[in-house]
This record gives sequence, C-alpha cells and structure tokens, in this order.
Amino acid sequence: MDYALFGLIAYLIGSVPTALIVGKVGYNIDIREHGSGNMGATNSFRVLGFKAGTIVTIGDILKGTLATCIPLLFDTDVNRLVIGIFAVIGHTYPLFAKFRGGKAVATSAGIILGVSPLLFLITIVTFLLVLYLSKYVSLSSILTGVVATITAIIMQETSLTVVLVILTLFVIYRHIANIKRIINKTEPKITWM
Ligand code: G3P
Repeated sequence: MDYALFGLIAYLIGSVPTALIVGKVGYNIDIREHGSGNMGATNSFRVLGFKAGTIVTIGDILKGTLATCIPLLFDTDVNRLVIGIFAVIGHTYPLFAKFRGGKAVATSAGIILGVSPLLFLITIVTFLLVLYLSKYVSLSSILTGVVATITAIIMQETSLTVVLVILTLFVIYRHIANIKRIINKTEPKITWM
C-alpha cells in the first residue's frame, strides 16, 4: 500500500512539466515546438537561455530529490530509491503533458542527491568534465550515468547500484536518437564551454 501511495505521489511530482511551465509562463514559448523538442533542461538552455535553463535544471533535479525524501517524513519502510524511480517515470511520461516528457537525466540526478550528496557531487563533476571534453550534453548524460553506477559499485551501495543500472539503461534508451546523431556527426555541440 505504501509503495502505491508514495509511488503515485512521486509520479505526480515527476509529472510537473518544468520546462513547459517555464517556457510558457516566462517566455510564451512551447518548448516542445523548438530546438530538439525535448522537454528538458538542455533544450531549455538551448531555446530559452541561461536563466530558464538553470531554473529547469534545478526544478527537474528537485523533483527526484523531493520524491526520494518525502518517505522520510512518514513512518514507512518503503525503499526511497524505488519511489524516486516513479518520479523519473513521471518526468519522462508526464500525466500533465500528454505523456511526452524529458530524457530522465536531471530527475535521476535528483534521486542521487536525495540519497548520496557525495555521489551527486561526483556526478556533477563527471558531467561537467565530459561536457568540457566532448561538448555533447547527450554523451555527458550517458557517460555520467555509467560513472555514477561504477562509483556506486565501488562504494558497495548495492541497492543504489541496481537502481543506477536501471536508470542508466533507461537514459541510454531515451537518447537513442542522440546516439544516432553523434555517430552521424549531426548532434549539436555546445558552444559556450
Ligand atoms: O538530457 C537531455 C540531453 O542529454 C539531450 O537533450 O535536447 O539535446 O535532445 P537534447
């Protein structure tokens, strides 16, 4: 019962379409009709600019963090990582935006922040390093998932490792179009770093 309740709450939190709201309220722009069309942080930076991109990034991260932390407020023994996964599902297939959402990266990072701030720090540093070297956000997202998983193994965090394997495979699945573009050399690179 607890899993159904907290899972539903997490799914609804994840379903809040941060990029869509920021785009429409702040700029009168439907993010789904511009750039890559993806309702995520990267496309918000690309289409709406630095301020909006930052707000969407933080908002999408916090959805995962909030979902993993809400069970702490109640007398429940649900696995917080499992509840976090429901937020990622909500972010990717949002009830409030025709089930067409983002690519699972920022909200997955939010789960990590909710359970291991140290691993979150390692994740951010890895992401920025790969981004600096490759200039591809999508590649950075995928490799960061792999590095986070390996780090969880080294830290001997068994449940976190299992969840990160699932999330990283899901992130790769959501980036299939990006991977094809990287191979074809048509994936856009960032220019500001
Ligand atoms: O997290 C999403 C990012 O890795 C790629 O986004 O808009 O370039 O497809 P986009």
